[in-house]
Amino acid sequence: MTLPYLRNILFLFSVFLTSVLTSDVDVSGTAVTTRFWDCCKPSCSWKAKADFTQPVQTCDKDQQPLTDFNAGTACNGGDAYQCSNQQPWVVNDTLSYGFAGIYITGHVEDFWCCACYQLDFTSDDLKNKSMIVQASNTAYDITTTNRFSLAMPGGNTTTHDACAEQFGVQQSVFGTDGSGVSSIDDCGNLPESLQAGCRWRFDWFKDALYPSANFKRVTCPTELTQITGCTRDDDKKVSSQPITGGDNKGSAANVSPASSVVGSVAMIIAGLLAV
Ligand SMILES: *[C@@H]1O[C@H](CO)[C@@H](O)[C@H](O)[C@H]1NC(C)=O
Ligand SMILES: *[C@@H]1O[C@H](CO)[C@@H](O)[C@H](O)[C@H]1NC(C)=O
Ligand SMILES: *[C@@H]1O[C@H](CO)[C@@H](O)[C@H](O)[C@H]1NC(C)=O
Repeated sequence: MTLPYLRNILFLFSVFLTSVLTSDVDVSGTAVTTRFWDCCKPSCSWKAKADFTQPVQTCDKDQQPLTDFNAGTACNGGDAYQCSNQQPWVVNDTLSYGFAGIYITGHVEDFWCCACYQLDFTSDDLKNKSMIVQASNTAYDITTTNRFSLAMPGGNTTTHDACAEQFGVQQSVFGTDGSGVSSIDDCGNLPESLQAGCRWRFDWFKDALYPSANFKRVTCPTELTQITGCTRDDDKKVSSQPITGGDNKGSAANVSPASSVVGSVAMIIAGLLAV
């Protein structure tokens, strides 16, 4: 066997190992979080945003699910709104579920639409608390850092007055642009269906401002996918399971780092042979 031949085999082997075993689906990192609730049709509610079972469910003015995913966003004269049930809820003292508009550096929407992520908060006020969120929306307005804009009613408003239009109320009940309502009492002014998620911000979430978090992709819990109707085709390839009652943390997740070491070693050998 000639040296170049062996080199080619090793090279192909290392490419195989690095691409197959350190797959992009297991993305993780650090992120900042913000808040939003604009009542607009979520960005992941359009067809073909990613390979998924269906786009994120949208609703009409009366909060009934829309079957037409071509319906335009209410933030641009259309009939499609964010569904009220895509708001956060408490599982227990250290865990909540919810939805988010996200941005992951170096990627575009098809990478995250309907993917689920575990956020382990790292800032003082939320230490030891985690959230499992499904990406229902996209946060392209800041692209320098990983960001999860957590969907919470009354958490933030924008210049689109879609919430006022959806519920036939003054836009001011949703608070001020950039920060939303200012106290838990103000949540009582929101439409009934949105009050629980508004109060969540002031109790479980401790009204934290821009809390930071470590994030990693996890397989989506059915509690989230049954609300959006959306599951990604690549969800089965994700190594990490979200925290649940069961003791399933870490076993499969350990495969990737170890494999990437093997991949790197093969790469180095191939490199040496290339000299
Ligand atoms: C509200 O949304 C805007 C636009 O995305 C963002 O710049 C701002 O930081 C948000 N405010 C909070 C408190 O998250
Ligand atoms: C977080 O958990 C650690 C270890 O269990 C504990 O020592 C610490 O007091 C907790 N911090 C908060 C803010 O609950
Ligand atoms: C909250 O629930 C998760 C998932 O079942 C569990 O791992 C965690 O220990 C629970 N925390 C508390 C404080 O009960």
